[in-house]
Amino acid sequence: MCGIAGYIGKKEGLPIVFGTLRKLEYRGYDSAGVAYFVKRRKSGVKGVKVVKTVGKLDNLEQAIFDKKSSLAAAAIGHTRWATHGPPNEINAHPHWDCKKEIFLVHNGIIENYKELKEELLKAGHHFRSQTDTEVAVHLIEEYGFEKALKKIVGAYAFAIIYRKEPNKIYFARLGSPLVVGVGQEEYYLASDPTALAGLVKRVIYLKDGQRGVLSLGGFKIGPTRPKVEPLDIDPEQARKGDFPHFMLKEIFEGPEVVRSALRGRLFPERNLVKLGGLESAADKLKKIRRLEIISCGTSYYSGLAGELLFEELSELPAEIHLASEYRYRKDPTQKRAACVFISQSGETADTLAALKKAGSRGYLTLGVVNAVGSSIARATEAGVYNHAGPEIGVASTKAFLSQLSVLALMSLFLSKNKKSKTAKEVMRELSAIPGKIKLILAQSDKIKELAKKYLKYKNFLYLGRGYNYPTALEGALKIKEIAYVHAEGYAGGEMKHGPIALVDKNFPIVAIVTQNGVYEKMISNLEEIKARGGPILAIATVGDKNIGKLADDVFYVPKTVRQLEPMLNVVPLQLFAYYFGALKGYDVDKPRNLAKSVTVE
Ligand code: G6P
Repeated sequence: MCGIAGYIGKKEGLPIVFGTLRKLEYRGYDSAGVAYFVKRRKSGVKGVKVVKTVGKLDNLEQAIFDKKSSLAAAAIGHTRWATHGPPNEINAHPHWDCKKEIFLVHNGIIENYKELKEELLKAGHHFRSQTDTEVAVHLIEEYGFEKALKKIVGAYAFAIIYRKEPNKIYFARLGSPLVVGVGQEEYYLASDPTALAGLVKRVIYLKDGQRGVLSLGGFKIGPTRPKVEPLDIDPEQARKGDFPHFMLKEIFEGPEVVRSALRGRLFPERNLVKLGGLESAADKLKKIRRLEIISCGTSYYSGLAGELLFEELSELPAEIHLASEYRYRKDPTQKRAACVFISQSGETADTLAALKKAGSRGYLTLGVVNAVGSSIARATEAGVYNHAGPEIGVASTKAFLSQLSVLALMSLFLSKNKKSKTAKEVMRELSAIPGKIKLILAQSDKIKELAKKYLKYKNFLYLGRGYNYPTALEGALKIKEIAYVHAEGYAGGEMKHGPIALVDKNFPIVAIVTQNGVYEKMISNLEEIKARGGPILAIATVGDKNIGKLADDVFYVPKTVRQLEPMLNVVPLQLFAYYFGALKGYDVDKPRNLAKSVTVE
């Protein structure tokens, strides 16, 4: 949520900071701003110039287009996703103090900002914005950097410049990610390491409580020693290539993403699954009797499928929790349980808070995380990385497939009988999934046509059962996020307990009706819909000769074992949502009101 960029070096800071913000725009994009040094025409003294604009970064680009006069000195920038106060120029960052000496950008939320603001108002400070952030800069003016940090309750990543110190950037992190890029006599700041790919080869992932200063001569970070690590992100991966949107590119990366998740981990011919990231917890894992899965959004839906996978393949009872609910429950975890935290970004605030809760109570915590070095990856005891590469489209697509791959691997890894018929079948089928996804992607034009046909509808019901119930939920979520269409995901069997009342000729049903143990049950549900005139778009198995008689439209997917069906069935639903949104002319990579990584509660 929100993006921070900073640069100090011998080059002009403004274009570099703007370029970094571009790569962070997916994190928040309702307003943006920069602060950089300029030479005052009359006095020749260095001053700080602030430019802020509402809306996407293109507006900021316009506004700074002719402002080439930035000096080779520190610069900071921010792209905002509003929490306190509407997106307007005043609320956009950077914010400054009463004397216009200190300029600050912030990610996170200052929870005690109301009390602090009252205190500062009494002390004579003047506020312009409605943000919690502005409190921080006045607090620094009043008490100095260190003391101000101590007074703040909440989460923050700050980047700060002082008018009197043109060659320095101050920063601090608590609860919101911040990374220092270490170059040759130049240093960067970014809230996401992906934004630094191609700029530096080494980074410092700041830890909670760490703060410091970057200058031309180096960096000072404390109170704990910083660790410089290699940055292992391919800048190519973060680009769009020939695709019109990142979302489409990422859907098309599906086969490769599954392959990457399985590489070096799955050996069907030896009935073996190796997960190096879980080895350190091997002894503890032997003792567990139960799994609790905790996540948000799309990661919650992959976890819902994970629940079934663990139950069936590992023979361990499993329960999925919404992280935002888990964190406020008394003690939702049962004895001898391991808690699995699924997160693409590794920074989701609710998931992180739930992780801290589970960790503090002594449960074994495991991560299924895509972003290497992220907070959740670091805070879990052991875990499995997705290796899906950066996901830029705000609505998660490839990460979902990757999470399903990892959860299947984990459930096989924990299985006590890897030679069972089911385990063997799932292992063999897992390696065939990438090829089958390719077959689906090759028919993307058909989905585009279907999207055109259904474009007139304003409400949808997505139905599935068993492993395809999570698929239905994820399909409905995608079209909500991308095309702003109301859609509900439902378990087929629940339809008669309410949603059937909505069915008429204007209420299409997207039914996942592939051939598995609940096929006949789904068919009965569809008969009930047909009888009430609801248009049916079915996702069915290749070779199903009957479904065409019942459904108005059918998209056929290859056959696989039921445990892995979501990995195939979700792909047409992702494409359907994509084309639906794109045909309506929406900015599918940056849907309104959403953010890629939700680092606030
Ligand atoms: C946001 C994103 C979703 C994502 C969810 C959980 O809402 O827009 O795409 O599924 O956060 O994020 P995580 O990074 O924890 O998987």
